Order: sequence, then structure tokens, then C-alpha cells
Amino acid sequence: METQISDPATSVDSDATFLPGPILLIGPPGAGKGTQAKNVMATWQIPQVSTGDLLRANVSAGTALGVQAKAIMGRGELVSDDLVNRMVAERLKEPDCVRGYILDGFPRTIGQAEWLDRHLAERSGGLPVVAVRLKVDYTHLVRRITGRRNCPTCGSIYNVYLHPPKDDERCDLDGTPLVRRSDDTEEVFTERLRTYEAQTAPVAAHYRAQNRLEDLDGDQPVDAVTAGILAAVKRLRS
Ligand code: AP5
Repeated sequence: METQISDPATSVDSDATFLPGPILLIGPPGAGKGTQAKNVMATWQIPQVSTGDLLRANVSAGTALGVQAKAIMGRGELVSDDLVNRMVAERLKEPDCVRGYILDGFPRTIGQAEWLDRHLAERSGGLPVVAVRLKVDYTHLVRRITGRRNCPTCGSIYNVYLHPPKDDERCDLDGTPLVRRSDDTEEVFTERLRTYEAQTAPVAAHYRAQNRLEDLDGDQPVDAVTAGILAAVKRLRS
């Protein structure tokens, strides 16, 4: 399947008064959460809050949290709710989160979802989370995961099978050699998928029960998925 990376300049939302609030992207590993979060971020000028990226930054920096998280992530299991909730609470205090943010990979357990609901309710005037679940045929996910390459400088996401960089294994934007995540093996992917089904699928049900979730076909080209997310969030906020 041939896909194109979205040019955020082509997906600018014309409604400058729209207040996005907290948006959650849910989906299995490789569903396109990170790819889409970057497009939504560019459109609505709100930050991406990716717990996977925050944890990987801690692992790289060798912090106490990173030391605890490294082995757990390497097995495709989840870091404890307590550690992740505290990390997210710190990030959400930053001033760039005032108009909203895109949560990518959080909440991923019912415990995290209930914590987030409480945390947002305690902040006066804050909007509740609305969620979009990306549904992708599981047979496509393996290729997405094993072919993924990331730019460690600018965060751009490529896929050597589906949308490779122009210059073999270098970022189109800044020329940095691309890297492969250590958990992007078929073996760890299988465990991540199992963890998703057992622990994160109930999170979607949690938001669905409150009419705060829409499902979207994540098997479409990247730009079509972005347009679908923007439209779904606007419906959920109306
Ligand atoms: P995390 O980093 O969140 O990984 P994940 O949820 O498994 O998701 P991925 O990043 O693998 O995929 P994605 O959906 O972002 O897809 P992407 O856009 O890159 O978490 C990693 C680990 O950290 C966890 O296993 C856990 O241990 C820990 N962790 C994180 N959060 C936690 C939490 N809240 N609690 C506890 N532990 C936590 O796209 C994938 C590929 O597909 C790319 O190559 C891309 O180019 C391609 N692609 C994207 N969209 C399309 C499309 N429409 N068509 C074709 N190709 C596409």
C-alpha cells in the first residue's frame, strides 16, 4: 500500500476560534498514532504528549524512571500506572498545554483513564477528553512496525516499505541517519499487541460508554486519516 506523509501546510483548519482541548488517539501498535498526532499538532498548534516518547527520552537520559522502564518496554509490557500518571501530570503543567494537547499512548489502562478524568475534573474550566480510535487490519500492522524508521533529530516517521526516505535510511528534512526502535521486532510487537487487547481495548469502551469516542478507519492514506480525526474531534466537541 503506497502512502504519503501529510504536508501540514495542506491540512490547515480554517476555524481559528476552535478550542481543541485534550484529544486522545487510541490504537494498537503501528496504528499511526504518532504520525497523526504530528499532523493534528501542526493543524491546531497544540502539543503532542506521547508517553512512549517521554519514556524513551528517560531511557536515553538514564534517569531513575528510565532505568525502571527500559526492561518493561523491551518486553512489550506496560510501565506502572503510578509512574506514568506522575510523568503525564508534570507534562500537562507546561504552558503549551493550555489550549489542548494530543495524548498519544495515554491513557492505556482503565486506571490511567480514571486518573486522567479525575485530574481534568479538578482543573476548573477544563474540557474533558475526547477520543478517536484508529482501527487497522492486524495483518498490516506487522509491516508498519518492522518497516518503521524514526529521525532522532526532528521526530519524522518513515517506513522503508510504505513511504521510504528519498535517501536510503536518512531523514528527508535534515539528513540525520534514521533509527529503528528496539521494540520494533516481530516478537515484541506480538506481546505489545496482546497487551493492547488486554489492557487498552477496555479504555476505548470506557470513553465509548460516555459518548466521547469515535472509531476511524486507520487503513486509509495518512492525509485521509488526519482529515477524519479533525472532523471527529469537531463532532465530539459540538
Ligand atoms: P508507544 O511508543 O506508545 O508505542 P505503541 O503504542 O506501541 O505505538 P507505536 O509508537 O508503535 O505506533 P503508532 O500508532 O504511533 O504508529 P506510527 O505513527 O509510528 O509505547 C512504547 C512502549 O512504552 C509500550 O510498549 C510501553 O512499554 C510503554 N508505554 C507507553 N505509554 C505507556 C503508558 N501510557 N502506560 C504504560 N506504559 C507505556 O506508525 C507506524 C508505522 O506505520 C510508521 O512506519 C508509519 O510511517 C506507518 N504509517 C502510519 N500511518 C500510516 C498509514 N495511514 N498508511 C500506511 N502507513 C502508515
